[in-house]
Amino acid sequence: MDVVLYPDPRLRAPNDPIQEFGPELDALARDMFEVMYRTEGVGLAAPQVGVNVRLLVFNPTGDPEARDQERVLCNPRIVRSAREREFGREGCLSFPGIYAEIERPVAVTIEALDLRGEPFTLELADWEARIFQHEFDHLEGVLFIDRMRPVDKAAHRAALEELVAAYRERRVAHPERARGPARPE
Ligand code: CO
Repeated sequence: MDVVLYPDPRLRAPNDPIQEFGPELDALARDMFEVMYRTEGVGLAAPQVGVNVRLLVFNPTGDPEARDQERVLCNPRIVRSAREREFGREGCLSFPGIYAEIERPVAVTIEALDLRGEPFTLELADWEARIFQHEFDHLEGVLFIDRMRPVDKAAHRAALEELVAAYRERRVAHPERARGPARPE
């Protein structure tokens, strides 16, 4: 299992709600954590591994030993967002090497289902709220470049063009692996 890189169309595709809970879903979540730790991330959404469902995982420590910090959210919904917003530095595993200051609400309240399909509510603030909102965006087909200030996006233009060129090359080399048209943004 590998991370899907921008501008793969799977990052913009609709994500289906999870309806079946069981060993297959457990295995997907476990695989996502493994990919996330291997790539030194703190969060990952299912479309980033090419599976277009509403599942996200994160661990604010990024430490594979800290299993008690792992969060798995199926079909999450934001039920409240703090009015206060702040900028914070973000990267994305689908955009290697690109970082920018992104403005987000400082806290969110979430409803989601766990891996057994049981509902729960979570209140997150600061770093955890930021990670969650970044991953939740992925479930909506929203990428952090969409939230960058124009000046930051302009600063990363060459790097984004390189990602588009690399995607096109992979598509020529492995048409079965890279599907759909590349749309530069
Ligand atoms: Co991301």
